[in-house]
Amino acid sequence: MPGKPLIMTFPVTATSHTLADYRARGGYATLARVVAGMPQEEIVKTVTTAGLLGHGGAAFSAGRKWSVINLRDGQPHFLCANADEGEPGTFKDRWILEHAPHLLIESMLIVSYALEVRHAFVYIRGEFDLPYRRLAGAIDEAYDAGLLGEGVLGTGFALDLVAYRGAGSYVCGEASGLLSSLEGKRGYPRNRPPRLTVQGLYKRPTVVNNVETLANVTGIVANGADWYRSFGTAKCPGTQLVSISGHIAKPGVYEVEYGYPLAKFLYEDCGGMVGGRKLKALIPGGISTKVLTGAECESVTYDHQSLGAAGSSCGSGGMVAIAEGTCMVRLLQVLLRFYHHESCGQCTPCRDGTGWMHRIIDRIVAGNGRLDDLDRLLEISRRNDGTTICGMGDAAGYATVGILAKFRDEFEYWIEHGRSRCDGALEIAAHA
Ligand SMILES: Cc1cc2nc3c(=O)[nH]c(=O)nc-3n(C[C@H](O)[C@H](O)[C@H](O)COP(=O)(O)O)c2cc1C
Ligand code: SF4
Repeated sequence: MPGKPLIMTFPVTATSHTLADYRARGGYATLARVVAGMPQEEIVKTVTTAGLLGHGGAAFSAGRKWSVINLRDGQPHFLCANADEGEPGTFKDRWILEHAPHLLIESMLIVSYALEVRHAFVYIRGEFDLPYRRLAGAIDEAYDAGLLGEGVLGTGFALDLVAYRGAGSYVCGEASGLLSSLEGKRGYPRNRPPRLTVQGLYKRPTVVNNVETLANVTGIVANGADWYRSFGTAKCPGTQLVSISGHIAKPGVYEVEYGYPLAKFLYEDCGGMVGGRKLKALIPGGISTKVLTGAECESVTYDHQSLGAAGSSCGSGGMVAIAEGTCMVRLLQVLLRFYHHESCGQCTPCRDGTGWMHRIIDRIVAGNGRLDDLDRLLEISRRNDGTTICGMGDAAGYATVGILAKFRDEFEYWIEHGRSRCDGALEIAAHA
């Protein structure tokens, strides 16, 4: 692992997802300490002091989100793990679900104890088969062992945990769309305020956290805030599970300590580009994060500050490596088709804007583009930014602005010559 691992600390075997293996590694010992009477405020304070940030994309402080929940308001509180993992290029939460489902369950038990939650949910991508079976099997094991349900470990604490399968919509990964879907409605994102921690599931205070965010909680509560802060950087503690795909020699899921040199990760840990090609561009954290050029990757470290200064972000940890020879026009076409297809249609700028952008890029690729189409794409992106209910409208624009800012000459070439300037050997297929 690049740096010190926190989550991937045990070898993956055919049985590492089982309760027996998890217990043999000390699993559920932290829960036992917690339910024996750890003060609820202490758990929230420890996680806040540790500086645990959300791993689902927005990097919001987990402890600060939880601190909005009023433990004495007499209302039901809900906890939901976001296991939708729909961001293209991202496949790291499924690693936890497949190999360490009990780590997620133990963490959810601890968070539920801390936040007075009686019913918790894992909203899991409908297409996930093995991750769902592993998670559902682990939940069954936990019920049988008295770790879920009434009287957890013989105490007065009770929690029911449900794995709920989505139906494959990208916006159902957005926290409020997820809750609409969980309520059995169409997965429409909701306007904020009110915040979900004030009015979430069934209009009750609800915490939605990414699977990986939650999976970190057991270790933090077991070892303390200083222990967590000993990983990563002062401003960005901890690690991130990075799923890397594209033209990389060794694709897969890696746990990367924040602050680790990005170039070292790409060239040493992941073996560089396939076929010895040069790195042309990198999508660092899911397609909604702005693309970096190969040259930019040389000088950044993998953390929120360094990637932020380079104009991008860690996002959801879904890296896509793009080798020299790849056509960025076709790449943007693939991305815009995805956004147009996934727009839920509630907001005019997103519904119409992604449609216009998709049609413009199709027109360019068909050889009928005009040079002013490029400014039109930028203008639509600008008008989408901040004018929609959820972040998807912004995201389509970020991808477009990021690619056009760095590879505009390729678009101009295609418009003037009616074809790609790239050799196409590694062209990303666009099933137009
Ligand atoms: C269109 C869209 C899709 C999203 N998909 C996911 C997802 O699949 N998984 C996820 O954890 N967060 C996703 N998010 C972010 C969630 O809205 C939310 O910020 C996150 O689950 C909060 O958890 P965290 O604070 O632990 O990161 C998405 C956001 C948007 C706008
Ligand atoms: S921004 Fe797009 S996906 Fe999000 S609510 Fe509006 S129309 Fe739906």
